[in-house]
Amino acid sequence: MNILAIETSCDETSLALIEAKGGLRQPRFKVIKHIISSQIKIHRPFGGVVPNLAKREHLKNLPLIWKQFSRYKNKIDKIAVTVGPGLEPALWTGIEFAKILAKELKKPLIGVNHMEGHLYSSLLSQTSKARSARKTKKLSFPAIALVVSGGHTILLHMKSLTKWKNLGETRDDAAGEAFDKVARLLGLPYPGGPEIEKLARKGNPKAINFPRPMLRDKNYEFSFSGLKTSVLYFWRDNPKANKADIAASFQQAVIDVLVGKTIRAAKEFKTKSIILCGGVAASKALRQQLKGEAENITNELLVPDFEYNTDNAAMIGAAAYITLLRKKQLRLTAQGGLDL
Ligand code: KG4
Ligand code: ZN
Repeated sequence: MNILAIETSCDETSLALIEAKGGLRQPRFKVIKHIISSQIKIHRPFGGVVPNLAKREHLKNLPLIWKQFSRYKNKIDKIAVTVGPGLEPALWTGIEFAKILAKELKKPLIGVNHMEGHLYSSLLSQTSKARSARKTKKLSFPAIALVVSGGHTILLHMKSLTKWKNLGETRDDAAGEAFDKVARLLGLPYPGGPEIEKLARKGNPKAINFPRPMLRDKNYEFSFSGLKTSVLYFWRDNPKANKADIAASFQQAVIDVLVGKTIRAAKEFKTKSIILCGGVAASKALRQQLKGEAENITNELLVPDFEYNTDNAAMIGAAAYITLLRKKQLRLTAQGGLDL
């Protein structure tokens, strides 16, 4: 089955054509064509994503990107679109575009949860990596999934590909949001995660002992807003401090909490695999530390290829296939607060 997927939930306009097969037992994906048009440069002067600007750019980009897919018109079996969570003006542009396309091509339209896209994004890399490395990483259950993006920080206990329990999430800022806010207060451009990581390479992660919020709490919830405030006060009181040390120490604090809680959950639930996904999973430092600490528990650590970490339509195509197999139907309206 070939699925054309559309993603416009935030500041990336993306279309993908993917081939999906294997069913729920062994879903396999081949990305036939994938285009991501990032609006980062447009939002950067504002220090974050401006919803109406995002909407304007999506409206401009969607037909241009679609043009590059039109030669595949006759190969498309289904059309999929992100319905939430995300910025509603941005979501609507994708939904409206998808509706018109579905009508024109006379194909069914599938609404997709963006977070499920992140969750299944490692299945895409599983197959592409397998092709090059000639070995397939297995995804065995139970699994623990750490979903970390700009808007979410969630720990899931997955019994199967489609059944999970939300163990906990952030009470305030998401991990990516904390990176973005701390970057802004250090005078670094948006999005902050990659900027902090770059600067952190020149700093000492042990230089400043920032708090590790909720790390010792016996639950799986997170909180990052206090950590952000600690950085703010430290920078205010130590204006001559080395910025790279602040970036490295802050990043280390976030990673210690994320990895610490994920490993604890993996041990408690005796999991066979660990999944790391979402925009923050692009962090090499986070990947490395989780890989190191997960080694004693499982060698099945699934992390998507870099291309599928931040927002993209290929992961929406993968989630659409699973949504379809589950016979799950999402309303074809923008649902900004949709959850996992
Ligand atoms: O998944 P995503 O593209 O968008 C949402 O659905 O939110 O995630 C974007 C987030 C941003 O907050 C960005 O700063 C963060 O992912 N991010 C990173 C890194 N690369 C992106 N955070 C930490 N380290 C990185 N290398
Ligand atoms: Zn996302």
